[in-house]
Amino acid sequence: MQIQNNISLKPFNTFGIDAKAKHFVSVNNLDDLKHILSLENQPNKLILGGGSNMLLTQDFDGLVIRINLKGIKIISENEDTVIVQANAGENWHEFVLWCINNDFGGIENLSLIPGNVGTAPIQNIGAYGVELKDVFESCEAMELSTKNIKSFSKTDCNFGYRNSVFKQEARGKFIITSVNFKLSKKHHKLNINYGAIASQLKIMNVSNPTIQDISKAIISIRESKLPNPKEIGNSGSFFKNPVISKTHFNSILLNFNDAPSYPVSENEVKVPAGWLIEKAGFKGKRFGDYGIHKNQALVLVNYGNAQGADILKLSKLIQKTIKRIFGISIEAEVNIL
Ligand code: EPU
Repeated sequence: MQIQNNISLKPFNTFGIDAKAKHFVSVNNLDDLKHILSLENQPNKLILGGGSNMLLTQDFDGLVIRINLKGIKIISENEDTVIVQANAGENWHEFVLWCINNDFGGIENLSLIPGNVGTAPIQNIGAYGVELKDVFESCEAMELSTKNIKSFSKTDCNFGYRNSVFKQEARGKFIITSVNFKLSKKHHKLNINYGAIASQLKIMNVSNPTIQDISKAIISIRESKLPNPKEIGNSGSFFKNPVISKTHFNSILLNFNDAPSYPVSENEVKVPAGWLIEKAGFKGKRFGDYGIHKNQALVLVNYGNAQGADILKLSKLIQKTIKRIFGISIEAEVNIL
C-alpha cells in the first residue's frame, strides 16, 4: 500500500472532474484500511467508492482513501435462496452479471448502475421497480472511531427512497466493507411492470422472460436514455424526485395538464424531477463543456473539461427555476464535495 501525492481524481469519479487529491491511497484489505485510518498525521480523509454519486467542486486538501476490497462468495444456501457476500470494492454491474450468470435472481433490474457494491446501500440504489433494500440481508462496516467491524441488519439500515442510516445518523462514521444479499435460486420474482420493460421485452421477442432477458432489456433501456460515464461524464440522476402534497400537485395540473406523478401516500405524490426540468426548458441545453442530457433531463453531464463548480452553479440555476415555476424545491441526489 502506497500513499501517492498530488493525484488527479478524474479517473475515480464518473463525472470525470479533474480535481486533485493532496494524498491518495488505494486499500485492498481490512488490515490496511485499519492502518490508514489510524494515521494521525492525516486528519482530513475522504472515502471513495466507485465515485459515481459525487460532484467534486474543489481539490481535496487531505487523504483520499479508495476502497478497493475485492471478492464475492456464497455464505449459505438452501434449495430456494442463497446468501452472497460481495466486498465493497466490487464494481456493482460486474457483481450483477456474476449473479445473473449463476442464475441468482433479485438484482437483474439494477443492471448497469454505475458505482461499487459498498456504496450501493448508502443511497439505497434503485431502478425499474427494484431497490437495493429488496435483496439486502446485512452489511459490515468499519467504525472510523474504533476501527471495529460492526454488522448492520436491514432494520438497522433504515432504508428509504435514496436514503439510509449511512446518510443520516451514521453519516461519516462508518465505511461499508462488505454487503450480504439474499437472492433467489428458483421461482425468481420478476419485476416487469415498470415503464418500458414490458415493451422492450416485446421488441426482443421474449414472452416468457428469464432474469437474463430482464437484465438485457434493462441494459438496452438504460443505454438508450442514460449517457455512459465512460463516454460522457455524469453521475446518474443529479436530483431526487420530489414528494409534494396532492393539493400542490392539483394546482400544477391547472397549468400543466400532462404533469406525471406517482402515488406516495393518501395526501402526497412524487413528481419526476426529469419532467419538471424538461418543462422548465433545460433538457439538452449545453453550456460549454457541461449541460443537461438530451434524453433524460435529470442527468447533468460533463462533455470534457467542466469544473465541478460550473456544474454546481447549473444545478442551483435549475433548482431556482423549478422553485419559481412550480413552487417545488428539488434536492440534489449526488454528494457535493
Ligand atoms: N421525464 C420527462 N423528461 C425527462 C425525464 C423524465 O418528462 O427528461 C418523466 C417522464 O414522464 C417519465 C418519468 O419522468 O415517464 C420517469 O422517468 P424515468 O423512468 O427515466 O425515471 P426517473 O424518475 O427520471 C428514476 C431514478 C433513476 C432510475 C429510473 C428508472 C431517481 C432520482 N432516479 O428516474 O435512477 O434509473 O427512475 O427506474 O429516483 C439514479 O439514481 O442515478 C438513476 C438513474
